[in-house]
Amino acid sequence: MTDAIICEGLTRRYGDLVAVNGLDLVVREGEVFGFLGPNGAGKTTTVRLLNGLLNPSAGRARVLGLDVAQAPLEVRRNTGVLTETPSLYETLSARDNLRFYGELFDVPEGALPQRVDDLLGEFGLTERADDRVGTYSKGMLQRLALARTLLHEPRILFLDEPTAGLDPSASRMVNDLIQRLAAQGGHTIFLCTHNLAEAQRLCDRIGVIDRGTLRAVGSPQELARQIWQTVEVEIDLRGEAPPAVLRALEDLAAVQQHTEEGGGLRLELASEEDLPDVVAALVAAGARIYGVIPREHSLEDIYFEIQEQTVLGEGA
Ligand SMILES: Nc1ncnc2c1ncn2[C@@H]1O[C@H](COP(=O)(O)OP(=O)(O)OP(=O)(O)O)[C@@H](O)[C@H]1O
Ligand SMILES: [Mg+2]
Repeated sequence: MTDAIICEGLTRRYGDLVAVNGLDLVVREGEVFGFLGPNGAGKTTTVRLLNGLLNPSAGRARVLGLDVAQAPLEVRRNTGVLTETPSLYETLSARDNLRFYGELFDVPEGALPQRVDDLLGEFGLTERADDRVGTYSKGMLQRLALARTLLHEPRILFLDEPTAGLDPSASRMVNDLIQRLAAQGGHTIFLCTHNLAEAQRLCDRIGVIDRGTLRAVGSPQELARQIWQTVEVEIDLRGEAPPAVLRALEDLAAVQQHTEEGGGLRLELASEEDLPDVVAALVAAGARIYGVIPREHSLEDIYFEIQEQTVLGEGA
């Protein structure tokens, strides 16, 4: 897999405020990368830096191999940006908005009408395509804005809080569209969001930024492993553990802790790789195992743990 985005020491200051602070980050081609962090963390500033809409104070960024500072126009030809407050022409219809922006983005004239029709269809807007956009609901506007980001068939999409302010069904529709784009392949998606459940569902990897500094990056599983170090596993025995099994547990170096629970055991292992041997040893000691369930940490658990460690780290 190649790299779609590479940031090296990317920094942006506003006076004394460091909005983005020495960001080192790689986003791989084809992945959905979630960029999380509290209000004012530097997410939108990063998106603007990566699209050459803002100059860095230091460091640099490469997008699809292009240096953003040197070739901002070429970068933007390959990226689609959905901003926090997309502006559309309220007095124009959805179709005319897309045509207008298509011309602006240099979509070939011959291909534009079909492309607009396809996007309107794909985004469920065909029926209302010729109504003035001023009459649209927020969810419809957001779908139209998302359609607009795709007009010039960009390879990287930057979606800055695409579901903010949408009701659950409109959010789901937008998320389904993002998921479909990701599944089609050919797109890298950089998604800023405050919705952790949404990020968990959509993203391959996550970066957490706080006050301009990247605090953690990795897949949710990798982040969980970095944070908790041990792996918790529930062993379902449908009854109490026999004494021989408990004795066997004492001898297993990989088991750092164990507790008996109604109907089974809860184990803490040094690593997931130890699990097969541990299960084999328990079976050899006479355990009748009905289920082995590793504890999954939600992205919400992970996010708040990172926040907490950030606060503790700063207090130290
Ligand atoms: N044009 C500007 N002038 C001065 N400060 C700015 C400017 N734009 C952003 N900032 C500051 O930079 C910091 C990062 O802002 P940014 O918009 O990138 O955060 P964010 O992570 O996108 O937040 P949110 O989740 O609220 O959208 C904030 O402290 C913000 O006030
Ligand atoms: Mg923002």
